[in-house]
Order: sequence, then C-alpha cells, then structure tokens
Amino acid sequence: MAKELKIAPSLLSANFANLSEDIDKINRSEADWLHLDVMDGVFVPNISFGFPVLKAAAGISTKPLDIHLMIVEPEKFIPQIRELGEDVLMNVHYEACPHLHRVIQEIKNTGMKAGVTLNPATPVAMVTDIVEDVDMVLLMSVNPGFGGQKFIPHTIRKIAELRELIERKGVHTLIEVDGGVNLQTAPLLAEAGADILVAGSAVFNSPDVIETIRQLKSLKTL
Ligand code: DX5
Ligand code: ZN
Repeated sequence: MAKELKIAPSLLSANFANLSEDIDKINRSEADWLHLDVMDGVFVPNISFGFPVLKAAAGISTKPLDIHLMIVEPEKFIPQIRELGEDVLMNVHYEACPHLHRVIQEIKNTGMKAGVTLNPATPVAMVTDIVEDVDMVLLMSVNPGFGGQKFIPHTIRKIAELRELIERKGVHTLIEVDGGVNLQTAPLLAEAGADILVAGSAVFNSPDVIETIRQLKSLKTL
C-alpha cells in the first residue's frame, strides 16, 4: 500500500515582513513539518536567518520543526537548537561535518531527531555507514543557498539508490528532497520513493498556500 507523502513547507519563501501570518497558514494546512533554512554566508553564498527568527517561528509553529543547517560547524549550535522545542529534527550537511558520526551521536543524545543532507554532487554511497544512525537523509535537488531554483533531474536516480540502500539495511530512515519541488516535479519524486518533500516558492508564491499544500500532500508515493 502507498505510504502517506509528507510535506515540509520552507519558510525561506514566506513574507518576512509578516512571518506570523504565513506560519499561521502552515499551522492551518495539512503540512507535516515546518522547514527552516539557516544559512551562514560561508557554507553557502547567502545568509538567511538565525536564532531570533528560529525562536519566534518555533514559538508559534504547531508543526514539528525540520531545521536545515547550511552552515559550517553545525555541532556548535546543538544546545541552542535543542532549546527550540520538543519536536525538532536537526539536519546537518555531510559536506560540513568531517566527523559526522560524532555530530549525529551528539544530536541524538539531546533527544532530538537527526538528519544528514547531501549536496547534488555528493553520491548516495557517502551515507552507507551512517544511514542506520539517522532519522532522515535529505537529498538536495538544487545547490543550497537560494529558493526558487530549477530542479536537478539526477535526484530521481539518487532517491531510488537511497531507497535501495535503506531497504537493504532494513532500516526506517526517511528520504526528504529539497529544491525545485512543485506540482510538476513532486509526482516524480513521490513515485521514486521520497517520503517528505520540502517546497518553498511553489507554496508561498502560489495564490492559495493551504490549497497548494493539500494538492502536494494528495500525491501518491511508491
Ligand atoms: C535552498 C533551501 C530550500 C529552499 C527551497 O537552499 O534549502 O529549502 O527554500 O526553495 P524552493 O522550494 O523554492 O526550491
Ligand atoms: Zn532547505
């Protein structure tokens, strides 16, 4: 039987002059997570927001938080991320963590869920020895740093490879995809075996945020 597809709207494309209104729409929608993109201007060529905004968003979101850290040395911030709430997943980039196993253990020791994110040029094979330790692998389907970019098609093959690895290991790690997700690309990702889709511009640039989330959510998975 097909699993339920999960949707994580990304706040990066929301109206930053009125974030509470957009978070309220996410709260009232069928979204499963709130995806929060932190960028440091070092790991990626852009700066988004930091703890003041994360705290404000966490304070009004009724959805679990999916925090995507596009920053160097993300382990420095584990205690501060932990303070954001009870239901938090902390996603760190493989490319930003030379001691990834240690970072994942440190995140899990706080009681948070842990995820590892792969850039488009990083092969799925790089998570072979960590996939059983994380709750989620996030496959980037654009180069991280900006919303509204074009979907990179090889992601479809990477989803299938990751699905095979997860099944071979007999684990329940979730597959999330981030970047260029819209009503055209989402069906392909769901069919390839993705569990969770992040969508920023497709949700917040649409005329009806709640309806667009409903349409994404109704797609059929593998
Ligand atoms: C990009 C971020 C994404 C971004 C996606 O670096 O990780 O979460 O918000 O934006 P869209 O859905 O517009 O590609
Ligand atoms: Zn993201």
